[in-house]
Amino acid sequence: MTTADSNESLNGTNPTIMTRIITRIFHCALAAGCFLGIVLTGATVCAAKSETRAPLLSLQAPPVELAEYMTQLQVYTHKLSLSVAASNVPLAQFYLHESVAHLKRIQELFPEYEGQPIALLIDRLAIESYELLNTLFAEEGAEASKDELDHALEVIINACNACHISSNAPIRIQRNDTNPYMQDFNP
Ligand code: HEC
Repeated sequence: MTTADSNESLNGTNPTIMTRIITRIFHCALAAGCFLGIVLTGATVCAAKSETRAPLLSLQAPPVELAEYMTQLQVYTHKLSLSVAASNVPLAQFYLHESVAHLKRIQELFPEYEGQPIALLIDRLAIESYELLNTLFAEEGAEASKDELDHALEVIINACNACHISSNAPIRIQRNDTNPYMQDFNP
């Protein structure tokens, strides 16, 4: 083989190699394009998904409902009345304390609710309604008569209803001495 031959053959093979190289490059480009396409599609789908998730994540906590706090107050009041019915002074004192603390929490959370001056009404109507029962416990303890205790409890329940009327809430609280709780109220 002469140099010319090898040149020729080189020249001869060059286009084939070039074609192969170009084909390879083309295939690689095609593969890369496909890959890019898949990645981009994936990214778009993910973006779309996170777009649908975004509003959920950015949703603010739902507004606090006064009714939920009232339900808890109702539980304390019911348990207070069951403790009074069972002449269990320490337990009644516990629920009296919890009721007043809960009312104060309501005052902080709901200075106003749907246009009603809740904090003010609690000051004017509710807090002082516990004073009679509190005094009975402090002064007479277990010696307080059933009538005295019943009357003091009625004062509290009347305050609940006075406030419901003042704030246009169609809720009427009524004493109920049946025990629905998994709890013994006896001393
Ligand atoms: C500040 C005045 C006020 C006082 C005092 C008050 N409430 Fe309410 N209560 C409301 C308002 C206003 C609503 C209606 C809330 C709403 O519209 O979401 C309500 C709703 C309720 C509800 C309805 C929620 C439910 O679970 O069905 C109950 C029960 C309730 N109160 C119990 C009581 C009890 C028991 C007391 C007394 C120990 C009391 N409340 C004292 C203002 C008051």
